Parts: sequence; structure tokens; C-alpha cells
Amino acid sequence: MKRAGTRRSPENWIFSPRNEKGKTMSGKASVIGLGKLGSPLAACLAAKGYSVIGVDTDVKKVEALREGRAPISETGLAEMIIGARERLTATQNIEEAIAGSEITFIVVATPSEPDGGFSLRYAIPACRAIGAALRRKKDFHLVVITSTVMPGMTGGPLKQTLEEASGKRCGADFGLCYGPEFIALGSVIRDFLNPDFVLIGESDARSGEILESLYGKVCENYPAVARMNLINAEIAKLSVNAYVTTKISFANMLARMCEKLPGADVDVVTSALGMDTRIGRKYLKGAVSYGGPCFPRDNQALAALAKSVGAPADLAKATDLFNRGQVTWLAEEALEAANGEAVGILGLTYKPNTDVVEEAAGYLLAQELAKRGAQVTVYDPSGMANSRHVLEGKVTFAASAAECIEKSGAVVVTTGWREFSEIPAKVWARTGAPRRVLDCWRELKNLEGVEGVKYVRLGNGGAGVLLMQTV
Ligand SMILES: NC(=O)c1ccc[n+]([C@@H]2O[C@H](COP(=O)([O-])OP(=O)(O)OC[C@H]3O[C@@H](n4cnc5c(N)ncnc54)[C@H](O)[C@@H]3O)[C@@H](O)[C@H]2O)c1
Repeated sequence: MKRAGTRRSPENWIFSPRNEKGKTMSGKASVIGLGKLGSPLAACLAAKGYSVIGVDTDVKKVEALREGRAPISETGLAEMIIGARERLTATQNIEEAIAGSEITFIVVATPSEPDGGFSLRYAIPACRAIGAALRRKKDFHLVVITSTVMPGMTGGPLKQTLEEASGKRCGADFGLCYGPEFIALGSVIRDFLNPDFVLIGESDARSGEILESLYGKVCENYPAVARMNLINAEIAKLSVNAYVTTKISFANMLARMCEKLPGADVDVVTSALGMDTRIGRKYLKGAVSYGGPCFPRDNQALAALAKSVGAPADLAKATDLFNRGQVTWLAEEALEAANGEAVGILGLTYKPNTDVVEEAAGYLLAQELAKRGAQVTVYDPSGMANSRHVLEGKVTFAASAAECIEKSGAVVVTTGWREFSEIPAKVWARTGAPRRVLDCWRELKNLEGVEGVKYVRLGNGGAGVLLMQTV
């Protein structure tokens, strides 16, 4: 590994990408795949001065970008596209994009396979088309795989496809890098521009240098850069996310324990834990199962990788098992609290500020409760449309948080949307039996002691003293 841990200062910042002859490149990039990650990536590069050609097989995404609209929903994306419009164009034609750029990011989907690995069914055709275009190109071109792929794939089938289709040699006629992103939906732009570190896998030093200098131009926080061979970078990408899932699950395990212990409060415990620099504070909040498009599948992919080479992956598997169990546990808590009444779920997205519901706690909880025959009402500020294809007919979709609360004897708050903590206490309260509110994130501070509400801060053992049984 080279340069891991180095931090760029503004004085030695490389502002322009350079080609192999040391000449300044004109800064032309293309991005293949304009989805949840590719669109913000294209917009960020354009905002930082690159001329960017976006490519997608989906004509709607191409048209959106051409017309200066955001192809997908992401915080700040629409504004950024408008601001960088003169440097941002889109096409369905990969050849055109390769001819008009010097560096190409492949950001197509890599769906999970049943065994936990990632499919290359979109990446291989993309590489084939890029290779065919490279055949007709004289200049050195850098291809960057940003999609998450299984270790061995960049230097294996993807490189092979590029070489066969182009008739050129990787490392000599064109370069290949693995350049994953560690972003969270809802904050993709901020995360992309301010990464904790930049991870680069490279087929050769020249390629790694070109990509490093691009990040140097684009990132706003002088990140450390870790450069290594392709397979180490692929393993590192999965490992970072798998490690974070383990950390989240550890905090969730503590929350479940604290809940059973009078006087215990998981937030107090984890805030102390987070002060230890060996552990750190991030992702140490005991709450619901982790979800979204990366954490669950990266964890499973690491386990699949270990299995495929005959190495143990007990930790990754235990984390996955525990995470799934969180949904069953929450369903049982909700049913007990509802005591035969309807259950409301506030929050279907896997985190606030996104419309993605994939593997999200509230979305899975709704399915689990419906399967158990419970009457369920759901509400989410932005996740309703993406939930309908699975939840329609099984649950009631409320038009507002207030309606969801009103229809339910027990309400589970599964996503930490700010608007939920701003709901006035009187909306939660009711006459007769108090409405039970299970607050997974412990953020509804205004509900403590409110009449007509039985407020339960999950992860908190409540007042009282633990009477230990002594032998
Ligand atoms: N979304 C995330 O939070 C995130 C985070 C880190 C890494 N990733 C990785 O990035 C990759 C992309 O993820 P995403 O969430 O943006 O996927 P997505 O499904 O939102 O977008 C993928 C896009 O690629 C397009 N596409 C497919 N084949 C194509 C081709 N041959 N040519 C041009 N376009 C093509 C699709 O039409 C789609 O618009 C995945 O490997 C994912 O694991 C995603």
C-alpha cells in the first residue's frame, strides 16, 4: 500500500489531472450509469471543473441530465446539476462518451446473487462497449470501476473483457483502477466531496496517480489516500462496510440489553464507548437494524468471499444473523405494545433524507407485522412510493404522520426523520388507554410524561434499581 494515511495540504495539492507525459489533461470524464451514485458523481466532477459525459441505458435519466434535471432524487443534486450545466451532458452511446473523455467511471448496478456475491451482468456489457470504443482511440484512457464488485473481478473478468474488446493491453495502452465510494444516500454529494479517505486499487502506478490527482482536484477535505493493487482495494471496500455493520450491531446488542436493565441507558453507555479512540463514536447508536443498498449486501459478500476460499467468516455471518433478528424482535415488541390494536409505523426509509427503502427496518417491520396478521398503518415523508409495490394491499398508507398516529394504538418510530420529533405532543395523546409509542431512536423528547401517551424509549431500561440475585 502506498501513501495510506498521507494528508494533502493545500500547498502540495495537485489541481489538474496529468497524463503520462506530464501534460495537464483537459479534465474530461465520463460516467457510465447515472443511478443513485453515478448521477451525483457526474454532477460533482462537473461542479469541480471537469467536462462530464454521463451515459445510461435508461433514456429517461439521459434526457433528465440533458435538460438540466436530476435523474434521481438526492440532496443538493438538482441545484448542483443546474450550476454545472454547461459542463454536463448525457448520452446513451458509450462510444461517444469514451471518445469525448480521458477517464471513465463505471457505476452500473451490481446486484447481489443468491450466494451473496455480486453480479457483473451490467458491468461486463459496459466494459465490452468501452473496450470496443477504446479500439478506435489512440490516447491513453483510464477506466475506473466504482461499482462494488467481488474481489478478483476488476483484475479478472472486467480487465479481460476490456482487453479483448479493445485489442489493447491494460497498464500500457489503457489503465484500470478500482475506485469505490463510501457514501450514504441522502448525503452522497457531501460524502463524495469529503471522504474519510480515498481508496484506490490500481493496475499500474500511472493509473493510480491519475485517479489520485482527480480526487485531489475534487475533494474538499484533503483526504488520506490509500493506493494498492486491485484485489486489496476490493477486499478493503467490503471490509470497511462489513466492519461498520458489526459496530452497528454491537450497539444494537447493547440497546437490547440496556432495555432490560432498570436505570440503564444505551446512549450513555455508547457515548462513553465512543470516547475510546480505538472504537470511535460514529455508527455507535443502538437502534434498529442496518439497511440500505450497501451495508447488508457488503457484509454478506464478505462472508461469501470467505466461504468461496474456505476461510471462516463467522463474525460477518453473526452480524447478519443478529441484524435480521432485530426485525423479528421489533415486531414482537410492537405487537405486545399494540395489545390487539392497530400498529403504526413512522419511517420506511433506511435513514432520513432518502427515498430508499431497501432492507430498511420500518419497511421490513411492516412486512413482518402484516405477515403476522396485524393491522398496520405506515407513513414516511419520502419512502411511500418505493414501498407500494411490496406493501400495497397489506398495510394502510396514511397521508400524514398525524393520520398514521391517529389510526394506531401503538406507533413504532423506525426512521429518525426530523419531522417526527417535531410533531406536537397533543397529536400523539389520546383519551382512554394511552397510545403506546416505541421510539427506536429516542428522539421524541417532547413525549416524556405526556398524558395520554405511554412513551417507550427503546434501549432504555427506565427508572428503577436492578435487584441482582446473589448466590
Ligand atoms: N447507492 C449507494 O448507496 C452505493 C454506495 C456505494 C457503492 N454503490 C455501488 O455503486 C453501483 C451503482 O449503484 P447505484 O445505487 O447507483 O445503482 P442504480 O441501480 O441506482 O444505478 C445504476 C444505473 O446503471 C445503469 N446501467 C446499467 N447498465 C448500463 C450500461 N451498460 N450502460 C449504461 N448504464 C447502465 C442503470 O440504468 C442505472 O441507471 C453498485 O455497484 C453499488 O453497489 C452504491
